[in-house]
Amino acid sequence: MEMSGAKWGATAEYLREVFGSGGLSTTLAGHAERAEKAGLPPIAITPEVGRLLAVLTRLASRGPGATGLAVEVGTLGGFSGMWIASGLPESGKLITIEADAKHARFARSEIDAAGMTRRVEVREGLGIPELTRLSRELGEMSLDVAFIDAEKTEYSAYAGLLKPMVRVGGLFIADNALGSGSWWITDRAGEVSGPAWKAKDAVDRFNRELASDPEFEAACVPIREGVAVAVRVR
Ligand code: DHB
Ligand code: MG
Repeated sequence: MEMSGAKWGATAEYLREVFGSGGLSTTLAGHAERAEKAGLPPIAITPEVGRLLAVLTRLASRGPGATGLAVEVGTLGGFSGMWIASGLPESGKLITIEADAKHARFARSEIDAAGMTRRVEVREGLGIPELTRLSRELGEMSLDVAFIDAEKTEYSAYAGLLKPMVRVGGLFIADNALGSGSWWITDRAGEVSGPAWKAKDAVDRFNRELASDPEFEAACVPIREGVAVAVRVR
């Protein structure tokens, strides 16, 4: 049976309750409240999305060809980064890029409190220049996982820099593939404001580029605001 619109909200609650508790959720308890107190916007991924990132990272970071390296664009308070890092092998590492100094400082303290400093490095700077530097530093096919969750209008630019860095068998993942606080992918002209429309339009273009990229096999998991997941196939 297909899920009706009315069932969607209740299903989201069920997912949060069942797949968003235990494990790292317990370690990170109180994160959202501390983030709010520190003045961060309440736009972090939710625990059930975190669990998806951990499962996907675990799948992509073991076995032949795995590098144990992951990159994130848009650290915010470090929540998604710690979920990704939790799926990496003991020797693995996540490099996460954050443009806002206050967010980066808060994230470092949360990562420290969770005992994950060895596996997560926060780099302060803008997404595009930091990724440009990183691609020179790490080279092509160096990543098991790339995750983007920063400026929606820059998603295609992040993809252009990150896709060559993902190894064959590695994953390229994007948050907000279906919406964010101010827009939804099915909104029509006139239903959303100018800036929100720009973000929606940019993500729509990004999704279509990802779905039709012959080097990737892409799908979209419609939890929270949509998580696009693509595996590099060649
Ligand atoms: C916004 C950004 C996000 O990455 C998100 O998941 C939700 C909202 C925002 O900028 O409003
Ligand atoms: Mg997001």
